[in-house]
Formats: sequence, structure tokens, C-alpha cells
Amino acid sequence: MKPIHEYRSVFSLNLLGWLPGLALAALLATPPLRAADASSEAKPVFDETPAQHNMLMQWWRQARFGMFIHWGIYSVPAHAEWYMNNGHVPREKYEQYAKQFDPVKFNADQWAQIAANAGMKYLVITSKHHDGFSMFNSAVTDYNVVKATPWGKDPLKALSQACRRHGVRFAVYYSIMDWHSPYQAAAHPDDTHPTYNPTHFVPGKKDDYIRYMKAQLKELVTQYHPAILWFDGGWMHGWTDADGREIFRYLRSLDPRLIINNRARGCGDYGTPEQHIPANGLPGQDWETCMTINNSWGYNATDDHFKSARRLIRNLIDIASKGGNYLLNVGPTSLGQIPQPEVDRLEAMGAWLKTNGRAIYGTRPGPFTQQPAWGRVTAKADRLYLEVFDWPSDGKLQLPAVPNREVTAAFLLAHPHRSGVSVSQGSDSITVNVPAEAPDSIASVVVLELKPTAR
Ligand code: GLC
Repeated sequence: MKPIHEYRSVFSLNLLGWLPGLALAALLATPPLRAADASSEAKPVFDETPAQHNMLMQWWRQARFGMFIHWGIYSVPAHAEWYMNNGHVPREKYEQYAKQFDPVKFNADQWAQIAANAGMKYLVITSKHHDGFSMFNSAVTDYNVVKATPWGKDPLKALSQACRRHGVRFAVYYSIMDWHSPYQAAAHPDDTHPTYNPTHFVPGKKDDYIRYMKAQLKELVTQYHPAILWFDGGWMHGWTDADGREIFRYLRSLDPRLIINNRARGCGDYGTPEQHIPANGLPGQDWETCMTINNSWGYNATDDHFKSARRLIRNLIDIASKGGNYLLNVGPTSLGQIPQPEVDRLEAMGAWLKTNGRAIYGTRPGPFTQQPAWGRVTAKADRLYLEVFDWPSDGKLQLPAVPNREVTAAFLLAHPHRSGVSVSQGSDSITVNVPAEAPDSIASVVVLELKPTAR
């Protein structure tokens, strides 16, 4: 099997994305383009003013934590979502998995509840992955979950409704590359051993594909009212920045409040670093790190490399301290269940957030240019939240002074009324004296209240 990392490594750079004016970076980072594509300009289209963009992104910036769900008929062979390509499965053979897809244990309320309990504020599910199978009711293809499976139900309908009941915003992923489309051709066609990635348009069929795609996007917007359109697969040959911008415009005409990620190319509301946390965030733009909870997006029966709850909680904190969102993925089985080890980890994250959520939601990065050695810092209004990973053995946390601010109060977020935290302030440093015992073995939050220094 072809290692997926091959694509990932190229692509993760590409995800730094639409950065206005950084056309060069985009060019360097984009997978091999044909000459015609390379010449197209990489200008972001924002019909809105920065103030309108801020309005649009308001809930998203507050949210900080979302659930990614990769679910499709690839859960039947259970080798994750690239199986059709990496296993070199011919189209007709792959189609048979639809006939075996019968997720009798699927319960939309349970999924939405798992997300809500984890403290996740939005959820992004694959409506169509690279394999081209539509996981929603689509009038423009029979290759969809309602018509082509024995199950015959529409999980996006159920999930979009359940999300509303549980206070989680509903959103969809959509792959531009389509290994099943009659309008796209495999990179290396072969009757028995095809390799699809990267596809290209069948000559003369690009317009047909765009028509199909627009029809599906309209169905998604009007049937499920997603808060975000999360594109992927824009590296297929023949898809251009100009195409991305046209799709962006089209979607905004259908729903002006729709947030759109940067992977349709040419523009986008936020950057999407994949499987890593940028060392300094992505200054000047909104961004969201998407990450697997083990090493796979789609369900992979052999992958038990689950990240620890400690790692995941600290990732969320690290991301928030750099001004980003964390989109953490789960890969449900063909029976329709989110694997228990994934649920366990999400529960642990939810428990931490229940006590410490105020240090994450709606925060901005702390004011310091360097991350402290003991942990991370987030800020909100006149508060600093110190997320302490390594509790000090000498009882002292050191911080640089905050220009024009002094500390008026300090306490543990887990025990706001218990004393035991005190502060001494020098002209260029702050020392926070904390109790011997860390309130939380994964990350303890110390709150500092600030006020402007009297002159
Ligand atoms: C990559 C992969 C895809 C996955 C996505 C998530 O683009 O091709 O399988 O859905 O990343 O970010």
C-alpha cells in the first residue's frame, strides 16, 4: 500500500493556505500543478469587510473545540478512508461495500451527546469523501446512503437534528476529488489495480463535474443547514484557485452565514493545518488544527494507537494558547458506533473542560512572546489563565510582567474560593506562589485578574 504520508506531507504545508499575499508560499506548498493552474492568482475573495468577517467568525472563535467524523462505506473493509486508493480497489468492486453497509447501532442523539459531553461546540461530518460515496440523500446520484445501502437512512438528517437538540453546531466535509465520478479519471487506471490519487477531469467533463458538485452543495445547504462547509481534495489536477473562489461565491449566495475552510483553494475563512500544531499558530488568520485521535481518520480495525487523554487535553490547551481551534476526529464503525476508546478519551476531555472550560472557550492567546516552560497562557477580558502542565516543585511560577497591567487577584480555577495562591510583582516579572499539590495531574489552571496600572 502506498503510504498516505506521501500526500499528507505535501498537503500539510499547503494547508497554511490562503494567507493573503502569500501566493508564493501557496505555490511552493501546493502539490504539482499544471502550468495553467500555476498561473492563476491566489487572491482571497472576501466580499465582506473585515468587520463582517469578524461577525461571521464570532461563534467559531468562541467554540475552540469541535468533533470531526470520518464515516463512510470504507468502515466496512475497516482500513480507513483511503482504502479504495491504497488498496487499489476497482470502482465496481468498491461499490459492493455499499451493499454491506448496515449501521444498525447508529444513534444520532448518542453521537451528538458524546460531542456535547466532550465540550465540543461543533461537529463536521464527511458528506462525501474521496471515495465519492454520498452519505446523505442526494437526488443527483443513486450512489448514496439512502438508495445504495440496505440500511436506507439519511444519517446527516438525523445528526443535523440531533446536534440542534444538544447545542452542537452541525457542519459538513466535502471532497472535491472524487474517485467514483464518471467526470474524473484515476491517475493510473487499471482494471484490477487502479490508483486514483490524484484524479484529473475527464477531458471535456469538468463543467459536468462542477454542475454535479454545485447541485450536491445546494442539497447540503438546503437540507441540513450546515454552519461550515469543510472542503478537501482540491489538489486533484485541473481544479484551480479560480474554481475555488467561484464555489465560495456560490455557497455564500446560498447562505451568507456559511463559514468555509481554505481547502477549496483560492480563498477561505480559515486555515486548516493537519495533524500538527503550528509552533506560533497562524498569525493574521483564523485556523483550526484537525487531528486524528489514533492514527486514522476513517475506522481502521487495526489501529489502536490512541493518543492519551493527557496528550489530547494538552493539545487543546496548546492550540487555544495560540489562537486556534481543535477539530478532533473520531472514526465510527460500520455498525454506526464511535469506538469505546475514543469515547473514553472524549469523556476525559469533557471532564477537564467542565472545571476548566473558561480557560479555553472564547479566549485569545496570552500576551507573552514565549510560552512559559511550565505550560501555556490564555487570556480573556482582564484575566490571564495559566494552564500549568508541570506543577512547580518549589511552588513558584514565573512570568514576565504584563505591560501597563498589575495583578489584583489570583486563584485556582478548580477552587476559586480556596486561598493558597499569592502573587509578588516586580517591575519586569510576576511570581505566582502556588500550593504544593497540583489540583489536576494533566493541567491545573491558575487565574490572574489584572487591571490597568495606575500612572
Ligand atoms: C487529508 C486526507 C483525508 C482526510 C483529511 C482530513 O486531506 O486525504 O483522508 O479526510 O486530510 O484533514
